[in-house]
Amino acid sequence: MLDYILELLQDVSGPLIFQLFLIYCIAFLIGYVMKLRQKLTLSLESGGGGGGDETSLPNKDQVLNLIKTRRSIMPKDLCGEILSDEDLSYLLEAANWAPTHHKTEPWRYVAISGSQNMLDYLEFLEDWYSTNRENLTSDDMTKFDVKYQSLKSLLPANASHMLIICMKRQALPDKLLPEWEEICATACSVQNIHLALTALPGWGGFWSSHTWCKHARDSKQFKEYLGLEEEDRVFGAFILGKVAPGKKFKSTRGPWQDKVIMRTNIE
Ligand SMILES: Cc1cc2nc3c(=O)[nH]c(=O)nc-3n(C[C@H](O)[C@H](O)[C@H](O)COP(=O)(O)O)c2cc1C
Repeated sequence: MLDYILELLQDVSGPLIFQLFLIYCIAFLIGYVMKLRQKLTLSLESGGGGGGDETSLPNKDQVLNLIKTRRSIMPKDLCGEILSDEDLSYLLEAANWAPTHHKTEPWRYVAISGSQNMLDYLEFLEDWYSTNRENLTSDDMTKFDVKYQSLKSLLPANASHMLIICMKRQALPDKLLPEWEEICATACSVQNIHLALTALPGWGGFWSSHTWCKHARDSKQFKEYLGLEEEDRVFGAFILGKVAPGKKFKSTRGPWQDKVIMRTNIE
């Protein structure tokens, strides 16, 4: 290529300034082509428009339908079928594309599946409550015990996976964001999971904030158990599975007009 360009320049007659200008133009053109190539490679690597395929987006009716169809479905309405690894990866890929200020990507998950692993998880909470009994009210203990007993039989039998929802505080060492921004990014990530799950026919789940075990949930020991540090947060679990046949779910919302103040001239 270089030989060809030099040969071409030898053939060009005229003043030196013209030859230099020609060299400059050729160098500029080569630089431009290389940059274009680099951009194209990057775009292909990230799957087109930075992560998705803009040519096959659902239309607005389909988007609204997906959003409105998403339901919170409890373990009692699941039937025990296990989600494939491929579909689990799909959910976690969706989770990973949440919006994130300064790209701190603070969402973290601990994915639990299998009866024994679920029982181990519940047992950890049980141990924690037993060990800390003296610092808790009898009301706290009763609430925990009732829920623990019911989940011990429900979760391993009915749920496919539990995704423990965690937030890494200051995931980037040089970026300390307000905590609320990291909480919101994590919540967006959970919503991505929930919507992606809604697109899998027959599958459902819900966000359990783990209020029944809130003392353990917020404890240092629980964070250690989940591989987190003290300033990180746990926001419960997303529990999912195959919906038992014949189940139907409904939900309602008040009109959006009651929640929005319009200061616009657009009718
Ligand atoms: C942050 C968060 C925490 C939630 N925690 C619980 C929970 O602990 N238990 C529960 O039954 N539902 C929980 N939900 C689900 C709500 O109950 C559910 O969204 C609501 O009933 C509306 O139903 P829908 O999601 O089907 O529209 C939670 C939802 C959110 C956003």
